Amino acid sequence: MATAYELALEKVRNGINPAVVAAELVASMTIDEKIHCLDGAVPFWVGIKDITTGGYHSRPFRAAKVERLGIPGFHFSDGPRGVVVGEATAFPVSMARGATFDPELEERVGDAIGKELRTIGADLYGGICVNLLRHPAWGRAQETYGEDPHHVGEMGAGLTRGAQRHVMATLKHFALNSMENARFGVDVKVDERTLHEVYLPHFKRIIDEGVACVMTAYNSVNGEWCSQNEVLLADILRHEWGFKGFVISDWIFGVRDGVKSLRAGLDVEMPYRMIRNAPIVAALAEGLITEELVTSAVTRTLTTMLKFKVGKLPVSDRSVVLCREHLMLSQEVAEKSMVLLKNANIDGSASLPLVLKSGAKISIHGRLAAMRNIGDGGSSDVMAPNVVTPLVGIREHFVNFEVVHELNASVETQVAQAKQSDVSIVVVGYTREEEGEFIGDSEDTVDMVTQIPRQDDPVLASEYKKYMLENHHFAPDELRIKSRNGTFSIGGDRQSIRLSGDDVQLIRAVAKVQPRTIVVIVAGSAVVMSEWINEVPAVVFGWYSGCNGGHALAKILSGTVNPSGRLPFVIPQDESHLPFFDRNAKKITYDYWHGQWKLDRDGNKAMFPFGFGCSYTQFSILDAKVEVSGIVNFECAVHNTGSRDGSTVVQIYVGRKDSAIERPRRRLVAFQRVEVRAGEIAQVKCTASLQNFATRNVQTHNWFVESGTWQLEIGQFSGDLNSLNKSFVIPQRIEL
Ligand code: BGC
Repeated sequence: MATAYELALEKVRNGINPAVVAAELVASMTIDEKIHCLDGAVPFWVGIKDITTGGYHSRPFRAAKVERLGIPGFHFSDGPRGVVVGEATAFPVSMARGATFDPELEERVGDAIGKELRTIGADLYGGICVNLLRHPAWGRAQETYGEDPHHVGEMGAGLTRGAQRHVMATLKHFALNSMENARFGVDVKVDERTLHEVYLPHFKRIIDEGVACVMTAYNSVNGEWCSQNEVLLADILRHEWGFKGFVISDWIFGVRDGVKSLRAGLDVEMPYRMIRNAPIVAALAEGLITEELVTSAVTRTLTTMLKFKVGKLPVSDRSVVLCREHLMLSQEVAEKSMVLLKNANIDGSASLPLVLKSGAKISIHGRLAAMRNIGDGGSSDVMAPNVVTPLVGIREHFVNFEVVHELNASVETQVAQAKQSDVSIVVVGYTREEEGEFIGDSEDTVDMVTQIPRQDDPVLASEYKKYMLENHHFAPDELRIKSRNGTFSIGGDRQSIRLSGDDVQLIRAVAKVQPRTIVVIVAGSAVVMSEWINEVPAVVFGWYSGCNGGHALAKILSGTVNPSGRLPFVIPQDESHLPFFDRNAKKITYDYWHGQWKLDRDGNKAMFPFGFGCSYTQFSILDAKVEVSGIVNFECAVHNTGSRDGSTVVQIYVGRKDSAIERPRRRLVAFQRVEVRAGEIAQVKCTASLQNFATRNVQTHNWFVESGTWQLEIGQFSGDLNSLNKSFVIPQRIEL
């Protein structure tokens, strides 16, 4: 006999509104069943024991299952760089994907991850992470796409479209979560314009794309924890944006006050029955809250599940995991993401691509050259069985050459090798130990002991504290990395945004004896390079580039692939040009200014501006046109004036010379990646919604477009002197 849930699905299939069907289904639930849907399926102690003894990422996290009615619940699995349960295809990290400036490619990544998720029984993907990169020291910078709200929104929308062909997706972490070590305790102060014009537009963009679920952040915003923040969850998300999906908390201790969280609109506490169950039950019994509040939360969850046909989603065959198509897609993304930052001439010709005589010698240096190094060791870690390191990629590509690399050789030995080589490649940067998600010893994590269920029980509290200290914090590397027992690597926010002293010493020593020294940076966000960059002719930003990254790098270096990645953030000359960052902050104010916008405002020239990247060919932009008719339409032609096929990204920045409102000198409103054959011309068309030009009215909480002349720069990076300048006039202020 069909279950109540199956009958409900049938009604939805027959065209009845899922919200109506869900309401009927919820009406048939007992209060206990409804309360059961308000948090993860597993009780706290069982869960915490499991998660800290190897259970983390062994299977999806479950919630909202009601056996009696056949409600299957949902099954959450993390991201963003691939499936985290079992072996899976590891894609380049999101920041690398941001550098492709290619939302369609990102959609294909989402599609591939969605298919792989369906082999492990997951139906909720946790990978749409779009917190804005405010400062490159942020440990989880690699999980987002960059520093610009428009660009981040478009990339996240692409991933959502692709993934949601197969599963529901989760947009996270709502909101203002862009510090790692302090995330459990920090309060972020933000004014209304900054919140809506800088830190939220990309969330709104992805809500408009139809994302199913939103995960709240750990931190508090303007004095209230995100998981119980009525301004964020009720006023903005539900009322202003009209979000109809469901809201889940971030993981352990993401909720502080159970009743407040329910009132604010948090639907499910994840991943276990933790903080809110007991207080909600008590508040119901005392009549402090109504059953209606519980009903609404459960209805939102079930409406979304029914809309997405959870329980009847097609299950992918296990053969899609690590299939050739996905591995090649991972490689394609890596190839399109690598950014050629510097390519000076040596003896009259460019350092890259490498032009070598047969039998030439290539020396490879750096502690990251032969390391499996595909990013964070926290919730986004992907178990790719084979990772092509830079060394392996270069060896396999340059088969007619002598490739030398000596692991752990002294600097002197490496210098001797470099001296005898025709070219030297130095692979330096970071690993999961220096940047990534952080679960370590900090005041805030220890404080959390006070949050555990039945916090008045000192025996449980000390048992938990002992457990955390023994098993969670200090698990040996082999365990953390190989089997995930003990879970996370330490990661956290970077201590410095420069290379380590050892890396710099190596670069300098090699460059001193080898004029053709190519530096490859592996990192998840900006690295300040001022102390060594003048000593080397070429630099490639290689990212954590997924399971086939080594192949991609070799193709870029050899010229088989023409580099086309563009920086999704600014690289400053000096860290003092960035916003204040204190990884242990208890309080921080986010003002309007970060990244390229801040450098522009303060008159600091970037070392490499936002959107910048070189190619082995040259492009020029011609015949730009702009027309305003409800939306803003742009057209231009891109001429590849060089002798190689290649791709560039047309970037459209807007500014105001005579504005009454403080605003960025240049704000990205549209971009379009375009491939152009050598010598040919391609036409580019793109649009921007008027919302991209809008200002938040802090009195009425509405949006308007300022009247007057708007200046546009149509170029290939922010501040590109070769941009074409256009303008248009908005005769009268437009209220949106
Ligand atoms: C992270 C989330 C993640 C969750 C589950 C949390 O620590 O902040 O991004 O989805 O863990 O792994």
